[in-house]
Amino acid sequence: MHYLVTGGAGYVGSHTVRALLQHGHTATILDNFSTGHRWATQGQVVLDVDLRNPSALRDALRGLEIDGIFHFAAKSLVGESAKTPVTYYQNNVTGTANLLEVALENGWHRVVFSSTAAIYGNPLTDRITENHPKVPINVYGQTKLTVENMLKATCEASPMAAVSLRYFNAAGAAEDASLGEVHDPETHLIPTALKAASGAGQPLTIFGDDYPTPDGTCVRDYIHVQDLADAHLRAMNALEQQRLEGPQFDAFNLGNGVGFSVKEVFAACEDIVGQSIPYRLGQRREGDPARLVADASRAREELGWQPRHSEIEMIVATAWAWEQKHRSA
Ligand SMILES: NC(=O)c1ccc[n+]([C@@H]2O[C@H](COP(=O)([O-])OP(=O)(O)OC[C@H]3O[C@@H](n4cnc5c(N)ncnc54)[C@H](O)[C@@H]3O)[C@@H](O)[C@H]2O)c1
Repeated sequence: MHYLVTGGAGYVGSHTVRALLQHGHTATILDNFSTGHRWATQGQVVLDVDLRNPSALRDALRGLEIDGIFHFAAKSLVGESAKTPVTYYQNNVTGTANLLEVALENGWHRVVFSSTAAIYGNPLTDRITENHPKVPINVYGQTKLTVENMLKATCEASPMAAVSLRYFNAAGAAEDASLGEVHDPETHLIPTALKAASGAGQPLTIFGDDYPTPDGTCVRDYIHVQDLADAHLRAMNALEQQRLEGPQFDAFNLGNGVGFSVKEVFAACEDIVGQSIPYRLGQRREGDPARLVADASRAREELGWQPRHSEIEMIVATAWAWEQKHRSA
């Protein structure tokens, strides 16, 4: 199969391209390199195009034969989204509208979309299922929920079929340390802690220790990037086999179902690195719920998905191997 991968030069997209190649598929990567990297494109055809430019998008995709679309491209910084909401809506919502329009024109009817736990807002239950109320508390989450609604309506009105994958916290790197996470600025906990450990970054800031959680720091569900990539292939396969129940749109949570506090993850980082890591305590960040933990049983049952990297130490160890290799490259 040959797939279009928007945002395929980014963190989760590049690991999914890697998984596609390992399964004998090929990819055309479409990316504007706003946060992506050329070194992550793994010899695949690259279209240097911005989704916000519909005529460039149409021209670039003309004549391609595509079996399905993995749509990763988005801006995804919660804090930045609060400061520049119009940019976030333009990039994430208008960009996706442009993509869907061109996909329909070309008769490409399968889409796997990167959504997020941020669409749920403050959790009302210990573990979040897919039918939890969706009341995002930040602009980023609002844009992703808007895209989900647009996809669902498009699937109802056209032959399009889509799966939305709501990731909790993506983490880790390829087991052979050949691919990994590089964001600038880096806002994710594990790479920030490991950068601080390797002396390449500032001390880690722990944002708030007065949350209503056992140790006062935020609790999150960490899912290894290769397990995420695997779920994408399974979701596309489900679309190809037309074995999703109900309408042509479905959504699945992707998480391990286990919550770790910031302090617990930080301790795991110190264990793996074998030294203490400099940190400081900061204020709470706006738009950060105290606890976000997935109930991902639907993905297990309906996609046959089984995360293989469920231990936080295992996730951190792959990120540390990548950090060391990347820094020395
Ligand atoms: N990393 C996480 O923990 C996480 C959690 C939940 C959801 N997500 C979602 O998963 C997706 C991938 O996340 P990531 O961490 O790999 O992010 P990333 O920033 O590493 O990758 C995003 C890619 O999209 C590209 N891109 C952005 N806007 C574009 C545009 N207008 N046109 C073309 N290309 C564009 C970027 O250059 C980059 O290569 C995003 O949609 C994100 O919102 C990520």
